[in-house]
Amino acid sequence: YMHTEIPEGLKRLPGPRPLPIIGNVLEVQNNPHLSLTAMSERYGSVYQIQIGMRPVVVLSGSETVRQALIKQGEDFAGRPDLYSFKYINDGKSLAFSTDKSGVWRARRKLAMSALRSFATLEGSTPEYSCALEEHVCKEGEYLVKQLTSVMDVSGSFDPFRHIVVSVANVICGMCFGRRYSHDDQELLGLVNMSDEFGKVVGSGNPADFIPFLRYLPNRTMKRFMDINDRFNTFVQKIVSEHYETYDKDNIRDITDSLIDHCEDRKLDENANVQVSDEKIVGIVNDLFGAGFDTISTALSWAVVYIVAYPEIQERLHQELKKKVGMNRTPRLSDKTNLPLLEAFILEIFRHSSFMPFTIPHCTVKDTSLNGYFIPKDTCVFINQWQVNHDPELWKEPSSFNPDRFLSADGTELNKLEGEKVLTFGMGKRRCIGEAIGRNEVYLFLAILLQRLRFQEKPGHPLDMTPEYGLTMKHKRCQLKASLRAWGQEDKF
Ligand code: HEM
Repeated sequence: YMHTEIPEGLKRLPGPRPLPIIGNVLEVQNNPHLSLTAMSERYGSVYQIQIGMRPVVVLSGSETVRQALIKQGEDFAGRPDLYSFKYINDGKSLAFSTDKSGVWRARRKLAMSALRSFATLEGSTPEYSCALEEHVCKEGEYLVKQLTSVMDVSGSFDPFRHIVVSVANVICGMCFGRRYSHDDQELLGLVNMSDEFGKVVGSGNPADFIPFLRYLPNRTMKRFMDINDRFNTFVQKIVSEHYETYDKDNIRDITDSLIDHCEDRKLDENANVQVSDEKIVGIVNDLFGAGFDTISTALSWAVVYIVAYPEIQERLHQELKKKVGMNRTPRLSDKTNLPLLEAFILEIFRHSSFMPFTIPHCTVKDTSLNGYFIPKDTCVFINQWQVNHDPELWKEPSSFNPDRFLSADGTELNKLEGEKVLTFGMGKRRCIGEAIGRNEVYLFLAILLQRLRFQEKPGHPLDMTPEYGLTMKHKRCQLKASLRAWGQEDKF
């Protein structure tokens, strides 16, 4: 690219000078969200780095990101062919593969309709407004029981270890029609390895860009391949069982509905895009993977912030006590009456920015942005962390302050302020699980905050430094929790 012609009227992208072979790896390393944010202060909201020999365009600033992903969404809707992506879901991932636009679009539509049927539509009884609510209410109750029983036995617990099972059970319920016990070794082995997955897939992993690094002994990379194998084997087994018991008159879950789509399509000769059965049923892999790692990371951060800010925990509990009471489980319909809880969740998304970059994008044709030329097939990083900490956009961006999203009297959520937080990407590749993600985080938190009081374990101070990855995790920790009195006991 250094030598490519720049079309007339367009400018060459600014950026740091690359070293031979490794490019700018040394400047980007370790915490790319921080180093690439610092570079945006120097080079502006569109600039180019080189990772290995490969040019990467980095976008920051709310306006620039909006311009690229929404106004020029078509140009920026591709995914780059990165080395690690080939191992995800056998190279057939909806989110990470380089599917051409027709195939990707058809799969995305199918995934969205499957989620609608098994999350947002009705639950098994009229008692619940939708399947998601039913799953989360039940798993939330189990989680409270599980945490109190671990407290009785051990005196403290690792929040992520338990949250991830509850969250996995919700998505397992929708995808596979089943749940697992908190001691199930197969599920535990799988979901507790997600840290390594995120470390490899996070934007800027040098091995994705510099071929010889792949041949060096590398523990993280080996674990990454192990996880993908275990993950695929786990899902494959469940999918086979579904094929064996499939009944077109009784579609039980998302897996059945995808199998059903394959059967239907064989009758439809006019289908204009051909998508293989494997790529259709493989969608369930993406939904399951995306559905537990993101949400369990969000919830685990939320619990850690609750412990770090005990006065906010008390205010959140009081809000629940007043608006929901202590005699029933909170529901989705309570959300609009709980502005502080909504503000708290927005501030977790903003302050932690636990998904610091979206999944990497790629230009699908020659294009330009803010007057700079960007050729076809250029890898593009979207810096969500920068947008969420931009001093142009936020007052005191580094302080954790849920009140920034509330009206002055604290009674109302400021929706416009909330929309500035960038967590789910935007435009054509925007997360398809956003509504589920927001509702699930809200409902689990409401249940936990109503029933439990969380505290630090003495002698085990929290370390809130994030570990960089696709989803950034806090260090594993030990916390304490105690049951709050239910309504009945309150009266005595
Ligand atoms: C993509 C965030 C939950 C399914 C994404 C992207 C982000 C994101 C940032 C990439 C957008 C881009 O590349 O521009 C989150 C967060 C979640 C969450 C923060 C929870 C708090 C979920 C859930 C599901 C899901 C629950 C499904 C059940 C997907 C899929 C994609 C995606 C399939 C790929 C879309 C595509 O490439 O077209 N998500 N997500 N996500 N998400 Fe989520």
